[in-house]
Parts: sequence; structure tokens; C-alpha cells
Amino acid sequence: MTKVTARAHTNIAFIKYWGKKNQKLFLPYNNSLSLTLNEFYTDTTVEESNEDVFLLNDQIQNEQELKKIQQFLNIFRDLTGNQQKIKITSINHVPTAAGLASSSSAYAALSLALNKFYQLDLDYTTLSTFARRGSGSATRSLFGGFVEWQQGDNNDNSLAVKIDDANFDIGLLICVVNKQHKKISSRKGMQHTVETSPFYKEWVQTAPVDLENIKKAIQNRDVNRIGEIAEHNAMKMHATMLAANPPFTYFEPASLLIIQAVKQLRTKGYSCYYTMDAGPNVKIIAPFSELEEIKKQLSAQFNDLEMIISKPGPDAFLL
Ligand code: PMV
Repeated sequence: MTKVTARAHTNIAFIKYWGKKNQKLFLPYNNSLSLTLNEFYTDTTVEESNEDVFLLNDQIQNEQELKKIQQFLNIFRDLTGNQQKIKITSINHVPTAAGLASSSSAYAALSLALNKFYQLDLDYTTLSTFARRGSGSATRSLFGGFVEWQQGDNNDNSLAVKIDDANFDIGLLICVVNKQHKKISSRKGMQHTVETSPFYKEWVQTAPVDLENIKKAIQNRDVNRIGEIAEHNAMKMHATMLAANPPFTYFEPASLLIIQAVKQLRTKGYSCYYTMDAGPNVKIIAPFSELEEIKKQLSAQFNDLEMIISKPGPDAFLL
């Protein structure tokens, strides 16, 4: 097999992952759960080459990025004993330069491409244990719909499981507050939080309750309850950062204005809820059928706010 291309979609966590108990193996402190998005994905091609090369959006990546990806490739090389050098060509497909975290789709697509390249024939759940070691959130991007990343306690049982196809009236509206690269990487931010935040213990203690509750809400197709739980879970995660020492936050003034507007829309009867990750963009959870109207309402308030509607996305696949 000399050239393989795979596609994986990004995901947004409704129950967040924030902190590792094992840095090398990427073992998280708590289970997380996400929705895979249809509108954002990465296509990654791997092929034989005379040296390792990594191209992202047509640009050759620097030594540091190459090193990171080589560490990931080495997991497959050690497993197969095949030391072949590889060229990786990745394209992030986002409707605009939305500045959304693409590491989830990137490492999921790369894992699937390498699975074929090395003819490993691993199922997606097993493959998720590989994707995990590129980026934690990538564990969940092999699957479409609602996906749980179970923390496990070793490399083989910290893996992704599909919970639900999300084949009901639910979607996300992505509000692009800032397209710039995040100032504090998720990797650094979560580590600092684990080490210094007195709230971290409570975060770890309460996440399993949120998870159980949201799984029930998903089963009941109760979008209001799903949104309520996701919103609270996200704000608890951000609270751990405000309590870190020194404190930090991903909120920007515009993020808070959008949050206020979402709450306002709720008082008018819209079923919308917000979540945020390691950046200032706000993601609004609502019934898919209401998103156009919610978008219209928000653009009346925020003139040049860029917004993208997405429905749930599919499993990763080979092209
Ligand atoms: O795995 P990373 O480095 O993409 O970190 C993900 C962190 C959050 O997006 C904030 C939460 C999550 O579970 O995706």
C-alpha cells in the first residue's frame, strides 16, 4: 500500500476532557463525551517517501511540528517494525479559517490512514487508542454522532465508544470570536490546571455524574437537558482555570457577550445552550431546526460575527 487518504471530522465535547493522569500515554482523569461535526473535517494522505515530511494546508511544517508527528508515527513503526519514511499531507476543511481546534480530526484521520498504510486492519475502537496519543480529543473523532472516551487505566482500555448516531433534531452553531491561534495550548493549559487549581478535584469528582445524566438525556432525545448539562459542565471546566495559579482564561469580551445573548434567547423560548473549549469561540447547542433562526437573531445583535451551522457528522472513512 503506497498511498492512502482518510477523512475524519472534528468533535466538540459536551462533557469535557481537561487533564491527564499519564502524560505519555494520554490517559485522562475523567471520561468525556462529544458530538462529531459534519462541517469540519481533515483529509490526510500518507505515502512512502525518502524522508519524513509533513505538509499542512499546502505548507511544509517546521521541525517542531514534524517532531511531534514523528513521535506519533513511531508508535506505528514500533508496532509494525516497518521503518519506511513517510510523507503526510493534511488539509483542514473548515468553511472559513474558523480557528477551530483541528487536532481531533487531524490525528483521527492520520490514524485511519496509517491503519490502511500498514495493513493493520484494526477496528475503530482499537484505533482510537492510537489517535489518543496524538491528541486526547482525537480519540473521539474516529466515530460519528455522540462518542464517549472512556478513561481506562492503561493504553489498551482508554478508548472511544459510540454512544448514539445523533440521528435526531440536534446541531451546533459555531460563533467565531477569534481566528487566531490559541495563546495557551490545551496541553499546557490543562497541565497547569491539574497542578495548581484547588477546584480540579471537584471537577474530577463531578464529571462522572454529568456523564451519566447526559447519556440519559441523549437516550431520551432531550435537547434541553443535553444543553443544560453540557453548558454547566463547560463552565465548571473554565472555573478550574480561573482558580489556577496564576489564573488564566480563554474567555474574551465577545465570548461573554454571546453567552449573554444565548441566555436572552432562552428567555424568549429558544432551546439554546453554550459551550466553550480552549479558545474564545462559543458553540451553541440547539435543535438543528432552530439554528437558522438563532443565527438570524444573533446576527442582528453582532453585525460581523461569523457563524457556521453544523449537524452531527459521520464516522471517519477512507477516500
Ligand atoms: O486533546 P486536545 O488537546 O484537543 O484537548 C481538548 C480539550 C477540550 O477541547 C477543551 C475539551 C475536549 O474534551 O475536547
